Amino acid sequence: LAGERIIVVSNREPYIHIKNSERIEVHRPASGLVTAVEPVMRACSGTWIAHGSGSADRETVDRHDRVQVPPEQPEYTLRRFWLTREEENGYYFGFANEGLWPLCHIAHVRPIFRSSDWKQYTAINQRVADAVTEEAASDDPVVLVQDYHFALLPKMIRKTLPKATIITFWHIPWPNPESFGICPWHEELLKGLLGSTILGFHTPFHCKNFLETVDRCLETRIDHESSTISRDGNLTMVESYPISIQWPSPWQETQPTVLECRNAVRSSLGLAADHLIGLGVDRQDYTKGILERFRAVESMLKRHPEMAGRFTFIQIAAPTRSVLEDYRAFEDQVRDLAARINGRFSTGSWQPICLKAEYHDPEEVNRYYRAADVCMVTSLHDGMNLVAKEFVAARDDEQGVLVLSRFTGAAHELHEALIVNPYHIEQTADALYQALYMPDFEQRERMSSMRTLVRDFNIYRWAGRMLLDAARIRQREKLAMR
Ligand code: G6P
Repeated sequence: LAGERIIVVSNREPYIHIKNSERIEVHRPASGLVTAVEPVMRACSGTWIAHGSGSADRETVDRHDRVQVPPEQPEYTLRRFWLTREEENGYYFGFANEGLWPLCHIAHVRPIFRSSDWKQYTAINQRVADAVTEEAASDDPVVLVQDYHFALLPKMIRKTLPKATIITFWHIPWPNPESFGICPWHEELLKGLLGSTILGFHTPFHCKNFLETVDRCLETRIDHESSTISRDGNLTMVESYPISIQWPSPWQETQPTVLECRNAVRSSLGLAADHLIGLGVDRQDYTKGILERFRAVESMLKRHPEMAGRFTFIQIAAPTRSVLEDYRAFEDQVRDLAARINGRFSTGSWQPICLKAEYHDPEEVNRYYRAADVCMVTSLHDGMNLVAKEFVAARDDEQGVLVLSRFTGAAHELHEALIVNPYHIEQTADALYQALYMPDFEQRERMSSMRTLVRDFNIYRWAGRMLLDAARIRQREKLAMR
């Protein structure tokens, strides 16, 4: 694929232009997908097609809706597509986030399926398929389709560009056939995805669920040996590619030392230099287990009263999808629970939970990672969870402990974390306490082994493996046509 300019498609854009009084600011969104794919795009160059969601996005594009990014040193083209309020409500908030998101995550939130949302979802997938055709420089482009917003896209692209190499990556879990089957349009979604050349998931388990779902719902030929599905003359390879992050981190050269980060975070909160800090970094999403994490902090303080005044849990929680009632209700629950726990334990000026319910840019988050003694990732269900890997990458001092939910994709790779069931509050509380008092040498052993894994299986490896598989398939197809 050398010299190939790739086309990436995702809903969330990598750079959002926001108007702040008269100034235009650029934001990097809180999105695991963007965190992972952006460095790959910078390395490969090409075009990224995504929803223009910022208040100054229209002002910053040319007449073809294109803008060169990153703004400080352009390396690829961002082509924006636009949505009316009604389209966004149907396609993004509705079908994608009230339907597919709870359908695929086991967080016991009931999915909602409305025919009107489905109509918008289909229409927007078609609009984006047309944009891909416009952006393609040849009749056999390499297209990387990202996530659950675009399940219909592969089949639509295949119709106009039959020779395209389409690599689709599903960033969230894939449920079992019974669960997936409740979606009224499950067959259309599966047929859409089977337009892909390669369909990737984070774990072999999600691949297995997908193969079983197809087996149950469609007339196809599945070859379990090669993990391929053939349907209507098209062959799709289903494979696991655990996603990762950039290594070395973009701040490697310029970041403050760990000691500087430790001191800065503690003094900003009026805490002593040896004060223990736990950290959570999430979008305020009900899948992330933030309430369970707070209850674990509460339980730890109850069981170890001597920790009062010596330990603070900082939760960075970026608001997300707040148009939806479930998300607004969740923000209230997070705030109320933090307030109740603070009310119960606070003494003098000390409060156990410091909730920072606002957007923090990635560089700032990196300083918190470096300042923390423990990072808690307690998702109830998560495709991968890149916060876990970011924390590990940030700790070049090989100190700090990761408490990690076993229901994340990351737990399949980061075995040296303290693995917990976040539904088991006391177990998580014990892990937090153990983490806070883990001897330095043990922290080093665990951290250094996790760092080796994240370093060796970084985001370039993730993309490289997929592109290499695609190149092999392309070569084989070319030979077969001779
Ligand atoms: C998850 C999804 C991504 C999404 C991100 C942020 O990681 O897999 O596709 O971009 O959440 O959510 P948002 O709805 O703000 O894009």
